Amino acid sequence: MTQDELKAAVADKAISEIEPWLEKDTVLGIGTGSTANLFIDRLKPLRDQFKGAVASSEASAKRLEALGIEVFELNSVGTLPFYIDGADEVNAHLQMIKGGGAALTREKIVAACAERFICIADQSKYVSQLGNFPLPIEVIPMARSYVARQLVGLGAEPVYRQGVVTDNGNQIIDCYEFMIDDPVAMEATLNAIVGVVTNGLFAARGADILLLGNPEGVERIALR
Ligand code: 5RP
Repeated sequence: MTQDELKAAVADKAISEIEPWLEKDTVLGIGTGSTANLFIDRLKPLRDQFKGAVASSEASAKRLEALGIEVFELNSVGTLPFYIDGADEVNAHLQMIKGGGAALTREKIVAACAERFICIADQSKYVSQLGNFPLPIEVIPMARSYVARQLVGLGAEPVYRQGVVTDNGNQIIDCYEFMIDDPVAMEATLNAIVGVVTNGLFAARGADILLLGNPEGVERIALR
């Protein structure tokens, strides 16, 4: 199976996971990226079974609206029953690196409001240690060089993601050569650097359920 076929399989599985819980007032939290897009596309036939969605990016919001799914501001809704999103890396504790699509801040905010985070990923994303994928950090533009120097001090090789402006008007630094021994501690350390808006470690609040696609099928790994 190709990677795209595996992504499609986990998107299908995520639909099966949430469909029994959909009610007329359900608002779903929806992530960003190619795997999340496949999930969004599969929501179209279900659109009359739930109220709408909160999106973690302008791109996902546009895709949802194009399918006739109403998109709500997060501030206008309460707790979301589910947040469904992909990942760049995920480990056995369902801690993740996210932000390859530069949507990490809104992803983390929407995930924080969700009762259950369902991570959908093909097997290439499953790792024993986070860090081979360069860890994204969203920074306030004027702080970029300062933050980069702090990242060097922590052992990373920071690289400015040229030409990318986040939905929040900020910039992204990617941390190369930065294997992460303690994701929860590193997430907190990075958050404490002045000028950092968000880092792409989703460890303090990881996923609750991982739907992992491999050629034998979709494995469901649930921690909570
Ligand atoms: C975007 C993300 C995505 O979830 C992550 O990059 C995975 O993307 P894809 O499903 O395209 O592999 O964090 O900011």
